[in-house]
Amino acid sequence: MSNGKFITLEGSEGAGKSTNIAFISDYLQSKGIDVLVTREPGGTEIGEQIRKILLNKANTAMHEDTELLLMFAARAQHIREKILPALEQGKWVISDRFTDASYAYQGAARGMGFERIAEIENWVQQGFQPDCTFVLDLPVEIGMQRVKSRGGDGDRFEDEQKAFFETVRNAYLHRAELAPERYAVIDASQTLDNVQAQLVKALAAL
Ligand code: TMP
Repeated sequence: MSNGKFITLEGSEGAGKSTNIAFISDYLQSKGIDVLVTREPGGTEIGEQIRKILLNKANTAMHEDTELLLMFAARAQHIREKILPALEQGKWVISDRFTDASYAYQGAARGMGFERIAEIENWVQQGFQPDCTFVLDLPVEIGMQRVKSRGGDGDRFEDEQKAFFETVRNAYLHRAELAPERYAVIDASQTLDNVQAQLVKALAAL
């Protein structure tokens, strides 16, 4: 059986990842492709337990090293338990966030540096990378406005300030620029129809 493809979606808060993941999944299935949708942090039973710790606003004492290691602990489980087995079965796996988020949030916005992330990435992933990463890009203010209008209490990350999300956005764009063959930057400030046309174009190339 042929190997499937591994697609990841990234972007700041409010970029429309959930809506567009559902769209990509439907689109691929309409082409007869077997799809598995998953997310990070999370995706497995153990990973979802780790997610709760990571997003819990009460965990104000969490050290940035702890945050980074928990992200990769959840990822290690996710890759071995879910992603690799699905790809081996020929499925296409779509993950709502993956390691690019660790570069953008922990490496850049938390100021831990890309080298540290790369070391742990190599240790956990041993060269395993997405086939394609969509970066849903939009001005930070629009994203923050969308999150606000969704209501709810927010989580440990959503409570960060504008400068934090500016750094996240720039880190994603920087990484996309360094390896344009793996990334598709999507202008997520456009209408939904327009965003989805951009996605279809990039998926056709895959
Ligand atoms: P979500 O809001 O997209 O579900 O993701 C949860 C939060 O976790 C989001 O604010 C981004 C953050 N995150 C990191 O900081 N590092 C990571 O490696 C991942 C996967 C997510």
